[in-house]
Amino acid sequence: MKLKKLCALALAAALAVSAFPLSALAAKNPKKNADEMDIPAILEDVDEKGTVNVYHWWTAGGEKDAIESVVDGFKEVYGKIKAKSNAIPGGAGGAMVMKVKVLQQAGKSPETFQAHPGQEIEPYLQSGMLLNLNQVWDYANLSERALPGLEQLCTASDGNKYIVPIGIHKSNVIFYNIHVFEELGIEIPDHEDITWDEFWSLCDQLAEKMPEGSYPIDLGDRKGWPASQVFEDIMLGTDPQIYEDFINGNYNVEDVTKVLSTYAKLMDYVAPDHSSRDWYEASGQVVAGTYAMQIMGAWMQPLMTSMGQEYGKDYGIFTFPGTEGWFGMCVDGFVVSNDSADVNAGVRWAYNVSTPEVQTSFSALKESISPYSDTPDDTYCELTLKFKNQLTDGGTKVYPSFTHGTALPWSASTSLQTQIQEFATSSDHDAEYFANKIVNVLKEASVKGDWNLVD
Ligand code: BGC
Repeated sequence: MKLKKLCALALAAALAVSAFPLSALAAKNPKKNADEMDIPAILEDVDEKGTVNVYHWWTAGGEKDAIESVVDGFKEVYGKIKAKSNAIPGGAGGAMVMKVKVLQQAGKSPETFQAHPGQEIEPYLQSGMLLNLNQVWDYANLSERALPGLEQLCTASDGNKYIVPIGIHKSNVIFYNIHVFEELGIEIPDHEDITWDEFWSLCDQLAEKMPEGSYPIDLGDRKGWPASQVFEDIMLGTDPQIYEDFINGNYNVEDVTKVLSTYAKLMDYVAPDHSSRDWYEASGQVVAGTYAMQIMGAWMQPLMTSMGQEYGKDYGIFTFPGTEGWFGMCVDGFVVSNDSADVNAGVRWAYNVSTPEVQTSFSALKESISPYSDTPDDTYCELTLKFKNQLTDGGTKVYPSFTHGTALPWSASTSLQTQIQEFATSSDHDAEYFANKIVNVLKEASVKGDWNLVD
């Protein structure tokens, strides 16, 4: 894994991130300073009573079971603390920043909440509401246990750690229903790394043979982010240099137009009412055979499992065309508020997500790759193990997702999702017009990074 090439976060302080003005509002609980806390003693005290409110966005089949297993794992160690799981539906975390803002303003900061490392946590950081977790990293030996490059990704602009990673997914994946291909007599390539030509040929054959009302692809982009997910896949699959330039703020209308032109071509094969469904509803329709393929991150695996679908028998995957040898990196983790009613309980939660016990149960149910090298391979199903081996292979190049919080400021990433969803739902998919709008979004957010993905 060449994650050492992702070296941008140290420069993140220089990036203009639009923080929400939480600091201006009086919080009801006093802020705790990690430097004045004996965190090892807190973690070792398993008898203290308390409450941990956990906010996350895992509501789809499979991911729901996975977070419940983390709650159970917490109760096993810290049995006197009430752990309350609060789900913000929709996926991908877009709604989390606003939800946390509202809670914090009301003096009800969650003890802990889900986040992606990187740019997504900067608004919280700038408003001074995150507890420094350096002591948790030390206590749990995370620097040594974390997969190569991950520590750097989890180090914020000020050089500290505010997040404990819980799982990793690959984002550049296409899921397909094997039965649809078989029933229509369409030959499935014998390799997962398909070329653009093979992909377009499959789309053509499906479009020709699928019955009325069925389509080769669905986006399930009611929430916007799945449309952006496809955009980032196409961008990397068009030219990794364009991707690197884009997240570094060296964008230009020409490159973005090129990416959107391919996206416009893809839209010929997409169900016209794609934005009326959430991603997991679209997956249900893939299982039903209404749509043959869905471009989605590997978090679709546990959802498929929850619907009784088996990899290799009922569904297969392709690497998104053009992205062979690349691993789109989506990391989930938990941060801790410094002004919640029970900061100690939040710290215990963040630590506990990294324990071998929780990692084993969570990774198996979420079908995610554990961020920690000591999680045994027999934790994983066949497909997750394949992705894990790709991620840890020295020849694989890793790139950070901007749809999932890491590579672009939150404000840019959310506005981008709106623009791309508008592009996908527009009738003429005017690539140049939307490329201008997208470039303006990045300009307004003063995007400036220092990622080095391509040699
Ligand atoms: C998260 C995944 C999650 C997906 C859908 C992504 O942002 O990283 O863990 O399953 O959103 O909710």
